[in-house]
Amino acid sequence: MLPKVIIFDNISIDGRIDGFSIDNELYYHVANEWSLDAVLMSNNTLLKKFQLKHSNEGTDCKVREVNEIDNRPLLVVPDSQGRIRIWDDVLETHFFGDILVLCSRSTPQEYLDFLEEKYIKYMVIGYDEVNLGTALEELNLQFGVKNLRVESGGKLNGLLLRDDLVDEVCVLIYPNLVGGISPDSIYSAPDLNSKEGVLDLKLLKMEKLKNEIILLHYRVMKYQF
Ligand SMILES: NC(=O)c1ccc[n+]([C@@H]2O[C@H](COP(=O)([O-])OP(=O)(O)OC[C@H]3O[C@@H](n4cnc5c(N)ncnc54)[C@H](OP(=O)(O)O)[C@@H]3O)[C@@H](O)[C@H]2O)c1
Repeated sequence: MLPKVIIFDNISIDGRIDGFSIDNELYYHVANEWSLDAVLMSNNTLLKKFQLKHSNEGTDCKVREVNEIDNRPLLVVPDSQGRIRIWDDVLETHFFGDILVLCSRSTPQEYLDFLEEKYIKYMVIGYDEVNLGTALEELNLQFGVKNLRVESGGKLNGLLLRDDLVDEVCVLIYPNLVGGISPDSIYSAPDLNSKEGVLDLKLLKMEKLKNEIILLHYRVMKYQF
């Protein structure tokens, strides 16, 4: 079974996710209202959010006991190239109950050994890249994840949306127009050949929050053909 997947991003009026000031406190206030089992976070976003740098250094992680009453979410990060090293720092933030790194057959063995040494859980799933659909199924099967929030840039969002793996999209819309060509958008994917691939959404919630920020929460309509 696939978990329920909710994409949640801050966007400007023109759909950009970078290049304007974001109210992190507000974002997490909204996000924490949902009781979700996991957060799927793209790797650069993780580094940016926690202001971490790539490094081999850090104190040793310890074996973590599974605590049944720990209701903090599982942090899930696709990192098939083995770029993130300071998981102990991420654990020290105490935001997450545990960490799961998604790797692929292309992930360097040295990185998998590093994760083993640090007692960081990982799954090898996919060949060159992580197979996201199978990873979500395994998250449900092996970790009991029934629902998760995606905190990511447009590429990972795009992969999930194009693979029909997203159930809901929630955005905080800021009263900003960023413009430009390079800033990432909430949904980056190859151009469509026709309007058939355009996703229809159904509005679930609309709310004006502080500083003229608007919350829009949609369900992704899934059609059976
Ligand atoms: N405004 C907002 O709310 C918001 C939220 C989050 C992020 N952002 C911004 O978005 C920008 C981009 O963030 P990002 O680089 O973290 O995200 P991203 O480019 O959307 O996604 C990168 C992630 O996707 C995985 N990935 C890439 N190609 C894949 C494939 N073919 N199959 C499976 N997985 C694949 C990568 O793992 P591998 O390394 O294994 O390929 C990586 O973890 C950042 O500048 C960040 O500030 C904004």
